[in-house]
Amino acid sequence: MKIIFSKGRPKKTRGLSGIVSFEDAKDALPAPVKKALLSKKFLAKDGESLLVSLSGQTFLLIGLGKREKFTLQKVRLAAARLLSQAKTLQEKNVALNLDGFGRVFPVSEVAGAAVEGARLSQYRFDKYKSKKTSGVFALEVLTLHSGDNAPSVSKRMAEAQIVTDAIYFMRDLANEPPNVMNPPYLAAEVKKMAAKNNLDCKALGLAEITRLKMGGVLGVNRGSAHEPRFIILQNRVPKSAAKDPIVFVGKGITFDTGGISIKPAGDMDKMKFDMCGAAAVIGAMKAIANLKLNVKVIGITPVCENMPDGNAQRPGDIVTFYNGKTAEVLNTDAEGRLVLADALAYAKNFKPKVLIDIATLTGACSATFGDLCAGLMSTDPALTQRLKDIGDKTGERLWELPLWDEYFNLIKATYGDIQNISKKYAGTITAGMFLKEFASHTASWAHLDIAGTAWNEGSAKPLSPIGATGIGVRWFVELAKHYSR
Ligand code: BES
Ligand code: MN
Ligand code: ZN
Repeated sequence: MKIIFSKGRPKKTRGLSGIVSFEDAKDALPAPVKKALLSKKFLAKDGESLLVSLSGQTFLLIGLGKREKFTLQKVRLAAARLLSQAKTLQEKNVALNLDGFGRVFPVSEVAGAAVEGARLSQYRFDKYKSKKTSGVFALEVLTLHSGDNAPSVSKRMAEAQIVTDAIYFMRDLANEPPNVMNPPYLAAEVKKMAAKNNLDCKALGLAEITRLKMGGVLGVNRGSAHEPRFIILQNRVPKSAAKDPIVFVGKGITFDTGGISIKPAGDMDKMKFDMCGAAAVIGAMKAIANLKLNVKVIGITPVCENMPDGNAQRPGDIVTFYNGKTAEVLNTDAEGRLVLADALAYAKNFKPKVLIDIATLTGACSATFGDLCAGLMSTDPALTQRLKDIGDKTGERLWELPLWDEYFNLIKATYGDIQNISKKYAGTITAGMFLKEFASHTASWAHLDIAGTAWNEGSAKPLSPIGATGIGVRWFVELAKHYSR
């Protein structure tokens, strides 16, 4: 699908045309909207849509609800809605009038969000279908048009293409089945990507990880037939921007059986998504490189497979991390914090100004928030606010949980320094408290728990089909943009 911009209505009027409108629109309305409003078949309520024909042309009217509740997320959803209708009608040419969005945001922002919505909604993973579903019908052109134009429109549209390309890449990695996606496979894919996208990449293997005494990574991977990997990606920036990097750390468990503390069989297949944190970091690095952001960014992903085995780690084992701290492994299913501990401790070597980790870490987080937002815990209130704002802007919401000192009692251990599960409750927060022990070298640290939001199961969402959602890529891109000089 090609997405182009046209100043003014495109000349060719074949295909499907999308017109959006506010419930309380006061601007001059296009004829099909006026007619539909008069007939009261369309009230332009949020999420409402109506297909109408007028002088041989098909229009999809899309309601935006009240103007004061308008966000860029509604632009993304409108674009998705329009393309889904085009698919139903088998219309290969689609146009979307951006003027109905009412100039609440600059036209460049609206065009960028429309590209995001269009592309995110069209993603499919049919690599393993013997009969491909995509390709049978393919949208050809989406024309975004507006009476306004600015040089920044094409720039924002190109940026949205780069970012959604990275999300496609991220989703492809995360949707890959676990008999294919293992730590060496991921490292090889990332190396190929890095070579094509102007990134430096190092993937440490078992020997190097052993030499560095990363006891968390080694413990978690002991039951696996595969070697672990510790992947480090860096963008290339001028010397002037090379100091004080931003460091992103992503949990990369290519499959989480729980280990000896094995999980129940139902839904265990979903644990192929336990590397979505790592995939988000990798996707973000690809986008950040292609956007040529002028800030040093480093992406670290510890990658393991958590399996039961005669050689697997046991409940009761004590592991020693890269920084010398120790933890009692009371439950081998709380493995994410063990691999992240080594990676966060290792990040100290880069002297980060901001350190952020992202992980499908606790079932308790999805129990708390469902799939409406991700959990956010941080040692820096300014960073918390920035991330919450980014969450609102990207439509991938974040909500804060506290990391008060008193919670530490719940993970104080009998034999080691700390234990990897809580003595009682607060499963998401105590996981955050565990990680905090390894991030204290950087004043500005945040932990993002995407357990409830990393994939869709059962049913698709407008901007993502069943499978990996790609959450996190845009958070990191936005944050890097903020620091880009
Ligand atoms: N990967 C899981 C967390 C998870 C569970 C994410 C379900 C998404 C959906 C993690 O490794 C895990 O197993 N966590 C345990 C921790 C517990 C043993 C303290 C959990 O949440 O049950
Ligand atoms: Mn687990
Ligand atoms: Zn896990």
